[in-house]
Amino acid sequence: MAYVVLENCIMCKYTDCVEVCPVDCFYEGENMLVIHPDECIDCGVCEPECPAEAIKPDTEPGLEQWIKLNAEMAQTWPNVTVKHEAMPEAKAFDGKPGKFKEFFSPEPGRGD
Ligand code: SF4
Ligand code: F3S
Repeated sequence: MAYVVLENCIMCKYTDCVEVCPVDCFYEGENMLVIHPDECIDCGVCEPECPAEAIKPDTEPGLEQWIKLNAEMAQTWPNVTVKHEAMPEAKAFDGKPGKFKEFFSPEPGRGD
C-alpha cells in the first residue's frame, strides 16, 4: 500500500506535502507532484497537509488511474523535498473538474 497524489494537485502544486514526508518520496512534474509507491511507508501524515485534498491512500476505490500515474511519473520526475511557492493559479484551479485532460503535463518539474 502507498498514498497517491490525485487530479486536484494539477495546476495547484501547493507542496505542503513534501515538507512532512519522512522518507522524501515526492517527485515533481511541471504542474503536479506524485508519490513513489515503493518508497512511501504509508505513514499518512501528508494527507491532511494538502490544502487541495489531493492525497489519498491507494486502498480507496476508483483510484486506478492515479496509482498508475504516480508509479510511472515517479520514475522520471525529479525528487522534491523542499516546499516551493504554489502555482500562481492554485486558488482558481483548486477543485476545477477535468484538470487531467486539459492541463496534465508529463514534463519534469525543477525538483529541489
Ligand atoms: Fe510520505 Fe507518509 Fe505521505 Fe507516504 S504517506 S508520501 S511516506 S508522508
Ligand atoms: Fe499537490 Fe497537495 Fe502536495 S496540491 S503538491 S499534493 S500539498
